[in-house]
Amino acid sequence: AQKIIIDTDPGQDDAVAILLALASPELEVLGLTAVAGNVPLDLTQRNARQIVELAGRDTPVFAGCDAPLARPLVTAEHVHGKTGLDGIALPDPTLPLQESHGVDFIIETLRREPAGTVTLCPLGPLTNIATAFERAPDIVEKVQRIVLMGGGFFEGGNITPAAEFNIYVDPEAAKAVFACGRPITVLPLDATHKALTSKAWIAEMRSMGRIGEVVASWTDFFERFDTEKYGSEGAPLHDPCVIAWLLRPDLFSGREINVEIETQSELTLGMTVADWWGVTDRAPNALFIGEVDRDGFFSLLSERIGQL
Ligand code: BDR
Ligand code: CA
Repeated sequence: AQKIIIDTDPGQDDAVAILLALASPELEVLGLTAVAGNVPLDLTQRNARQIVELAGRDTPVFAGCDAPLARPLVTAEHVHGKTGLDGIALPDPTLPLQESHGVDFIIETLRREPAGTVTLCPLGPLTNIATAFERAPDIVEKVQRIVLMGGGFFEGGNITPAAEFNIYVDPEAAKAVFACGRPITVLPLDATHKALTSKAWIAEMRSMGRIGEVVASWTDFFERFDTEKYGSEGAPLHDPCVIAWLLRPDLFSGREINVEIETQSELTLGMTVADWWGVTDRAPNALFIGEVDRDGFFSLLSERIGQL
């Protein structure tokens, strides 16, 4: 199976991504590293443990960085609710939080595993990944690939007109990661805003037993924000696109292009400046996804979540 580390700030969409990964035999989830993002770290690490337990697994969960590299934390309770995982309340987790720091787990895992066998899946701000690369530059070349949710180009931003939340929260970290030289796949808003839930899919989830009911309650909650704010048909399931791309890259299309991160301008801070039309001679550093097969994506989710 493909070994992955999921770096996450759950988040209802992070939660669905984690369930999809845990349900998929093609993937071996070595660990979950929590990061501050949608809500502060004490909640994201707790939510991560609740999600693992909901799936009936004991995947180790580590707490990583509690603040961005160079800025105060910006959170998104307005999207995800006070806990970050509002919906059906889950029991207090009994799965213990691992003692070592999430960044140490990333470093030690990459040092231990054969080079080119571990893929990093960041679903939140890139603080943990950038910190690991900064502290242990030797691990960078051992990374197989980074598949991340973040950014947006034609679609604009969702936290400012120019920036998507994950990149905006820690633009310095994003800049370091995009410059790391390893293969990167980016699932930006251009793709994830097409992965919209539908009433029919949520109803299907609700009929699938305990886990399905919880997923339905998360997506219901999540939907309220997006349908009100954007008038969209459903809610974008951003983060599950990362896991779905690993499982079924044929459901997606994009281009190998150069992507740079804006870290200076107040107006466009955290923008992913994507050279989609190849108007510069800057070398491509990322596969930037623009399209997703919505039906294929939601069938995959139903099939896998149904197997948990
Ligand atoms: C991203 O921001 C978070 O709120 C979501 O979990 C997702 O990772 C979307 O911009
Ligand atoms: Ca997230």
